[in-house]
Amino acid sequence: MPNYTLITGASSGIGESLAREYAEGGYDLILTARRTDRLEKLAGQLREQHGRTVEVISADLGNPDGVAELADTIIARGWALMGLVNNAGFGDSGAFSKRPREKQLAMIQVNVTALVDLTHRLLPTLERAQAPFIINVASVAAFQAGPNMAVYYASKAFVLSFSESLSEELRGRVSVSALCPGPTASEFAERAEASKANLFKMGTMSSQKVAAIGIKNHRNTIVVPGVRNKLMVWGGKITPRALLRRIAYRINS
Ligand SMILES: NC(=O)c1ccc[n+]([C@@H]2O[C@H](COP(=O)([O-])OP(=O)(O)OC[C@H]3O[C@@H](n4cnc5c(N)ncnc54)[C@H](OP(=O)(O)O)[C@@H]3O)[C@@H](O)[C@H]2O)c1
Repeated sequence: MPNYTLITGASSGIGESLAREYAEGGYDLILTARRTDRLEKLAGQLREQHGRTVEVISADLGNPDGVAELADTIIARGWALMGLVNNAGFGDSGAFSKRPREKQLAMIQVNVTALVDLTHRLLPTLERAQAPFIINVASVAAFQAGPNMAVYYASKAFVLSFSESLSEELRGRVSVSALCPGPTASEFAERAEASKANLFKMGTMSSQKVAAIGIKNHRNTIVVPGVRNKLMVWGGKITPRALLRRIAYRINS
């Protein structure tokens, strides 16, 4: 019987790359997102190329019922789970007061609430596996405030803090890793309406590279892929917060 790794947001970008890397590494997968056609296509390729078992479950994590249905389906089918990758997420660019309220609240639902909800629902199943793991995709944005992407940065700060706490609580039982990429080539910037922001003009890492580094280091509690991103996080730690948020404001404009 397969021992699955569940990947949320597997229909594009980092999630899709994680799925490809995991399948190549011999993992059986459950892929989820809203765009089922893309998931089915990816699942077909991974089955053919790597001979893995790959299941697809369509779910809208922007809806609390969607999260519950996803977890209930996995539990009801009696599927064994060894990995949970909470990757689904999105951002939004612009001044908080001028951006749609619904989008800010949906961001908290997908980036934060769904991640906590899914983790809580699936932990008992995960804990039955040998050496189970969780990867939560946070961001370098998690380490500082982010004017012009205020809710997004705050949501990722939550993911980092939550992951660190869980990794300590579950030490020796489930390894928990916060993967913190910097700007990455994916559909993220366009969906966040941030393609023209300085942040994305400074260059991006490929989603394949982010995924490979995340998987290789998934027993580490905090993983920041790439030297430039590491320097950004380190620089942030030695920069006064008042200055840091001014710089972030410029970068996010
Ligand atoms: N790209 C970057 O610069 C960057 C940097 C740091 C961190 N990250 C984080 O990396 C993660 C992946 O983002 P990405 O860069 O790969 O962007 P992406 O290409 O836009 O992928 C986002 C994924 O999340 C899924 N998703 C979004 N809303 C959803 C919902 N309501 N229900 C279910 N799935 C949903 C999307 O699937 P559907 O639309 O098919 O549902 C898609 O598969 C996110 O958590 C993001 O915050 C990205």
